[in-house]
Amino acid sequence: MKNFLSVKDAGNVEELAQKAIAIKKDRFANNNLGAQKTMVLIFLNSSLRTRLSTQKAALNLGMNTIILNLGQDSWNMEYENGAIMNGDKAEHIKEGAAVIGEYADIIGIRCFPSLVDREKDYSEYILSKFLENVKVPVVNMESATVHPLQSLTDLMTIREYSKKEKPKVVLSWAPHIKPLPQCVANSFAEWMNKADVEFVITHPEGYELNEKFSGDATIIYDQDEAFSHADFIYAKNWSSYNDYGNITGEHADWMITNRKMQLTNDARFMHCLPTRRNIEVADEVLDSAASIVIQQAANREFAAQAVLKEILDFL
Ligand code: CP
Repeated sequence: MKNFLSVKDAGNVEELAQKAIAIKKDRFANNNLGAQKTMVLIFLNSSLRTRLSTQKAALNLGMNTIILNLGQDSWNMEYENGAIMNGDKAEHIKEGAAVIGEYADIIGIRCFPSLVDREKDYSEYILSKFLENVKVPVVNMESATVHPLQSLTDLMTIREYSKKEKPKVVLSWAPHIKPLPQCVANSFAEWMNKADVEFVITHPEGYELNEKFSGDATIIYDQDEAFSHADFIYAKNWSSYNDYGNITGEHADWMITNRKMQLTNDARFMHCLPTRRNIEVADEVLDSAASIVIQQAANREFAAQAVLKEILDFL
């Protein structure tokens, strides 16, 4: 694997999820593979799970890691070609990314969307600027449109907890207090569309995802109907794609509750975290035996390790 930017780099998604499950059984089996190699993890946005799990995965493989909070620990970066740099941005991406690449064998990048300029966000403007200016492999740690390390984790977790070969997996929009990116939902949708599952998306009207990501998924606007016979409920908020970056209407009644979980086939509850308790999902669900959000977060380490191993094998 050269880069890990989206599902397109994953090959067979089910096989990669199985590799992550195998790594979980012996995480130190390849603890020399990354010896004398360095991963630089660049964060333009906050993170708990991605930061810790990706660093842990690299350490399990014997790599060194450096974390850079871009713009906080370093200079503010200018991305525009031809910019006259007379503002607060002291370093251009052309030098900045190229220099980081000199110290790194693998680079990880987190760069959220603006939620203002849809065309720019969906062109993966920031991620592509890094790709243009580094020669080493790049791992997407959540970009403007996708979060593939999360999606690989999600598939791995579904395989671990599924009681059947082809479970019914429901991605449910859930309320939030502010507009969030579509990345996790986009990414989950494109991975589920490649996995051997029955995939349903449910959301209020106005929250349709870009069809490039929702693909052939069944879309049901009635949340109760969508939950019927579900084996997994995956809750996530996202802002509107069509009315880009905005929240449309009041939908507090879309919060995941025990009443809704009881409509399912004894489904497991999943969420990428962080989640707003009693806004997106009720305490009674998060604190129930149905919830596997902590196990899911723990699996981030093994999913990241499966990806880093594939890249190290390529180097
Ligand atoms: N799920 C996830 O990516 O969590 P963080 O934002 O904390 O990394």
